[in-house]
Amino acid sequence: MAEEKRLKKGQEAFKIYKEVFDRSTLLTLYTLINKGYIDEVHGAVSTGKEANVFHGVNEDNREIAIKIYRVATSEFRTKWSYLISDPRYRHVTKNPRKVVNLWAQREFSTLKTLFPKIRLPEPFVVYNNVVVMEFLGKNGLPYPLLKDTGPEDPEKDFEVVMNAVKTMYGEGIVHADLSEYNILVYDTLYFIDFAQAAILDDPRAEEFLLRDLENVRHFFSKYCDVPETENLLKEVREWKNM
Ligand SMILES: Nc1ncnc2c1ncn2[C@@H]1O[C@H](COP(=O)(O)OP(=O)(O)OP(=O)(O)O)[C@@H](O)[C@H]1O
Ligand SMILES: [Mg+2]
Repeated sequence: MAEEKRLKKGQEAFKIYKEVFDRSTLLTLYTLINKGYIDEVHGAVSTGKEANVFHGVNEDNREIAIKIYRVATSEFRTKWSYLISDPRYRHVTKNPRKVVNLWAQREFSTLKTLFPKIRLPEPFVVYNNVVVMEFLGKNGLPYPLLKDTGPEDPEKDFEVVMNAVKTMYGEGIVHADLSEYNILVYDTLYFIDFAQAAILDDPRAEEFLLRDLENVRHFFSKYCDVPETENLLKEVREWKNM
């Protein structure tokens, strides 16, 4: 696209953000626009506790999700405690901007490791507190959450989730916030929201795995018979050692 046109679109996007984000976030977005990672910005998809997700289009005309982690959030202490427990980020300082940037990087790095081994959005770029990834949905409408649709085929869907947990574990990763709130439904199930995902060297990894399995079990047991959490845990560990 001609530089001039892109800049114009970028400036329009810039206006939308103006009231919502701090100056440094605006500069980050502006850089991503100038580099073509973001070409058009459409509406907000979600305003969560720690991040805002926008729908947009990139230079290649692909729909993108733009996840913008807010610097000022009540979740700061939680993020920080997760980071210092992670051998990759142990030396993080308590600077809120640095913490939030590492948080975004951490999500991107996990997406990179796991794509396309499990169904998740293809990661495109991370810059400061912004992650740009494939948009899971069509024409700005995200696929619905599993918590809203319920499983179409409970046994089969449960197996899809267990297979994803095993694949992640095999890659040395635990999602650590796995639940029907972070699974989207389309032709199959898609997994999102990876910033809190831990590596197995993290002393809390096993605790997170147990919690994930408990969440999954709790949800699916409303629809079908599922093994006890203890057995699920065994299944995951044995699968890794195979
Ligand atoms: N790649 C994507 N494609 C389509 N929609 C997405 C994508 N990523 C996130 N979303 C939408 O944005 C919502 C919030 O995303 P996510 O769970 O990653 O952020 P969060 O910070 O955990 O938000 P929350 O506090 O609401 O849980 C999702 O429920 C989903 O509807
Ligand atoms: Mg979420």
